[in-house]
Amino acid sequence: MPDQTLLAPPLPPEKFRFLTEGLERVQGYLIGSTALYLSTLEYVQRGEVEGRVAEIGVHRGKSFIAMTVGLPEDQTALAIDIFDAQHLNMEATSVDALRDFKASLESWGLTDRVEIHEGSSLDLEDQGFCEEGRRFRLFSVDGGHLHYHVANDLRLAEKTLAEGGVVAADDFVNQHYLGVITGIFEYLDGGGTLVPYALIPNKLLLTDAASVERNRAQLRELFGEGLTKAEVPFRDVTIDVYGDPRWVVQDLDGNTAELQRNPNTVPELQRLVSQLRRERNRVGAQRTRLRRRVSELEAALHPTGRADVLPKALRAPARAVYRALRRR
Ligand SMILES: C[S@@+](CC[C@H](N)C(=O)[O-])C[C@H]1O[C@@H](n2cnc3c(N)ncnc32)[C@H](O)[C@@H]1O
Repeated sequence: MPDQTLLAPPLPPEKFRFLTEGLERVQGYLIGSTALYLSTLEYVQRGEVEGRVAEIGVHRGKSFIAMTVGLPEDQTALAIDIFDAQHLNMEATSVDALRDFKASLESWGLTDRVEIHEGSSLDLEDQGFCEEGRRFRLFSVDGGHLHYHVANDLRLAEKTLAEGGVVAADDFVNQHYLGVITGIFEYLDGGGTLVPYALIPNKLLLTDAASVERNRAQLRELFGEGLTKAEVPFRDVTIDVYGDPRWVVQDLDGNTAELQRNPNTVPELQRLVSQLRRERNRVGAQRTRLRRRVSELEAALHPTGRADVLPKALRAPARAVYRALRRR
């Protein structure tokens, strides 16, 4: 569905504003459609699933803010990252991520509602993270991308996820981060109880076994038009696969605007190229039609042996039309 534009379900004003104006101002790793899916999921969970939002691997907060923007005032969210302790980062280094993350929290009114944990997720279990019980409703796993990080972080998510909650595991099928898929299989083969049920661009969604059908149905109800393949077999379950079409976001009052997209991605540039090709063809066809019309008028005005083609009274207006067309 490369050029289709779909209308997303209504969202409260802060989410609407972030997705249509703020998303591309936060540097990070998140596809626009994925931001929309996660942001909407957080919104519809309110009142239905108990608990907080959490993320391991926050960086500058792109996915974190998409999930938490507009969070009700009585709720807090948890952001876990090694942030400036980049000597602990096994794959890359990021500079000043915490400073930029805090600035974004401030500008989206989230500072007082976010608890920041600076440290490696590999240490959380020993620090008693799981002992506080099942308390998260939306848990993004986007930290270290080596297999043991991913397996570790999924186990933490499993042990702390509220019933009905959703875990989003990043870069599931990213060819440059094969540690992720290795870690996911390591987790599932090692007795992990979370069940995959959907794949949104780049992220695998999992939930507890009893909540698979409910969560699957809810996502279809919200984004049925974005569903590109239903019930794709994956290990011993099936997952729904959602695409990355163009979305128009709407707020609760019916105002609409396009979802912000990163203009520099390959799909976006391909979309731009085909849009420009269509425009070029349209203009080309119009030029051909106008040229034909000009030739007809020229033949009428300068007839060879056909001086009487136009009645005299029409010749002056026809000349004016002819001149106007020549100028285009
Ligand atoms: C791909 S980035 C996260 C992207 C972010 N969610 C976004 O939307 O832009 C991965 C993050 O994981 C963090 N990280 C790496 N190893 C970690 C670990 N062991 N514990 C916690 N965070 C870790 C890195 O510091 C980095 O900020």
